[in-house]
Amino acid sequence: MHLYDYAKQLVLEAGNHLRKMMSEAIDIETKSNPNDLVTNVDKAVEQFLFDEIKTTYPNHQIIGEEGHGHDVHDLKGTVWVIDPIDGTLNFVHQSENFAISIGIFKDGKPYAGFVYDVMADTLYHAKAGFGAYKNERLLEPIKDTQLAQSVIGMNPNWLAAKKITPVLAPIVSESRTARAYGSAALEIVYVATGQLAAYITPRLQPWDFAGGMIILHEVGGVATNFMGDPLTITHPDSVVVGNQAVHKTIMKQYMQPHHDFLAPWHTNYRS
Ligand code: IPD
Ligand code: CA
Ligand code: CA
Repeated sequence: MHLYDYAKQLVLEAGNHLRKMMSEAIDIETKSNPNDLVTNVDKAVEQFLFDEIKTTYPNHQIIGEEGHGHDVHDLKGTVWVIDPIDGTLNFVHQSENFAISIGIFKDGKPYAGFVYDVMADTLYHAKAGFGAYKNERLLEPIKDTQLAQSVIGMNPNWLAAKKITPVLAPIVSESRTARAYGSAALEIVYVATGQLAAYITPRLQPWDFAGGMIILHEVGGVATNFMGDPLTITHPDSVVVGNQAVHKTIMKQYMQPHHDFLAPWHTNYRS
């Protein structure tokens, strides 16, 4: 089977598996802080994907949030970047609004992206160069908007983080309004569908953005860090994704004037 079709089928299977696990008791642990949660389901979904991929493609490398491949730095060959549940807090508190995110890269170049909104049963997917889809519907190229007429995505925790507030709050003030969905992968694909004009966040890991970024590029969206540099799957980074016009406005009017301030912080900003 073709790699793209294989991956598409696999992410849907992982979703089935995940939904079944939700009918049993869920074990919750904290990670770096009391609000950073991981569950047995995050771990089981990553392990399921890892075992399946390695059985079918023993030479593929896998980077997963819950422990696989964190030492992978050589991007030769095929690399899968996996977040088994993006939006774990939503998973725990809402039982919806979370996604399985997968980006596949060949020799470091984007090959395919998958963001599966598990409870809505909506799969966003793209093979680089062949367009992006929401389930079976081809997504239109995204349209430019003005920031003042745009709804943007931003996590309120970052807006409340004292040191970065002076950079982020004016962007929200200028926009029509901001929304927070609690899953970076979903917020990036909402930019791809045009539901959001931009999504801005100080710190993401490659598994948060790898799948969504590939989907977004297929519809003409732009993804960079706060300095305007491209995102890479070997490093965490700050992230600005948007349609071309809004991305340009955010960079020029709100990020560039703060370059000196943002430079040391853009990969690991904490309040
Ligand atoms: C988190 C979500 C959240 C974003 C965090 C991520 P997780 O991923 O994408 O929306 O604000 O930065 O860490 O922990 O739920 O996989
Ligand atoms: Ca994540
Ligand atoms: Ca996760």
